[in-house]
Amino acid sequence: MSRKVKAAVFPVAGRGTRFLPATKASPKEMLPVVDKPLIQYAVEEAVAAGATKLVFVTGSSKRAIEDHFDTDVELERALTEGGKNDLLRSIQGIVPRGVSCVYIRQGEPLGLGHAVLCARPAVGDEPFFVHLADDLIKGEPGCLAQMASEHAEHGGSVIAVETVPREHTSSYGIVAVDASNRNRITQIVEKPAPEHAPSNSAVVGRYLLVPEIFDKLEKTGRGAGGEIQLTDGIADLLGESPVYAYSFDGVRYDCGSKLGYLQATVAYGLEHPDTGESFREYLRNSVCE
Ligand code: UTP
Repeated sequence: MSRKVKAAVFPVAGRGTRFLPATKASPKEMLPVVDKPLIQYAVEEAVAAGATKLVFVTGSSKRAIEDHFDTDVELERALTEGGKNDLLRSIQGIVPRGVSCVYIRQGEPLGLGHAVLCARPAVGDEPFFVHLADDLIKGEPGCLAQMASEHAEHGGSVIAVETVPREHTSSYGIVAVDASNRNRITQIVEKPAPEHAPSNSAVVGRYLLVPEIFDKLEKTGRGAGGEIQLTDGIADLLGESPVYAYSFDGVRYDCGSKLGYLQATVAYGLEHPDTGESFREYLRNSVCE
C-alpha cells in the first residue's frame, strides 16, 4: 500500500525575522543547541527515519548550511595532526555514507508551499518528508520515524500535530479530524484567529506527503501573510487523498522563537554527556534562588 520514504526536504530559505539580529547574515537553522546546529538534528532525524536523499531548499545567506554538510579537508587534517580523534569523528559522521545532499535555490522566499514545490525535481514521484528544522522534537524513535511507520501501515500523507492553547491558533496551521477514521484530516486552515479555528490541534514542522501535493502547490495562490502556504496546498489535497493527523511521542521546542530556543538549550544541555551533570548543578545552585 505504501512506499518507503527516501527523500527528505528541508526548507531553509525563510528570513528568520523572529531571531534577528542573530539571523541577519547566518541562517537560523545554524543556531546551535549545545554543540550541534538545528539543521544537523534535523538531518539525523530524517536519516534515522530512512531518508537517503536530503534536499535543502536554500535562499540568500545560507552558504553556511552547504559548508556544514561538505567535507572540510583542512580542518580534518588539522584534527588528525593534533590527535583530536573524537572531534574528527564528530565532523566526519555528519553525513553518513550512502546519503546524498541536494541544494535547490528558492529565488525569493514566497512561502513554505513555494519552497516545497521548488524541491519537486529532486523528489520526483515518491512520497517524501518535509522537516522544519526550527521545530526541534526530542523523541525516541524520532518523530519522522514514527510517521514513517504510520505511513508504512496505512499509506496516505501524515502530518504531525500537537494541542496548543486556543489563544495560540493564529500562529499555526490548525486541523479538524474525523476521529472515527484514524484522525483523517477533514479541514486545515492556516493561522486562524481563535474564534475561527476548527480546533486547537496545530500542525508542527513534520510532514510526510504524497507526491500529488506538487500538482496542488502548482495551483496554490498566495494565502495568509501574502505567502504561498503549504497548508493551502494540503487543503486542496484532502478531498482526493487521505491526510492523517499524527500525535507524535516526544517534546517539541519551537527554536524559531527565543523562549523555545532557550528551553531546548536547557533540555539538551541537561542530557549532554559533556555538560549534563555540571549544568544541572549550576542550575540548581544559581538560577532558581
Ligand atoms: P517560518 O514561518 O518560520 O518563517 O517558516 P521564517 O522566515 O523562517 O522565520 P520568521 O517567522 O521570519 O522568524 C517556516 C519554515 O519554512 C521555511 C523557513 O526556512 C522555515 O523552515 N521557509 C519559509 C522557506 O524555506 N521559504 C519561504 O519562502 C518561507
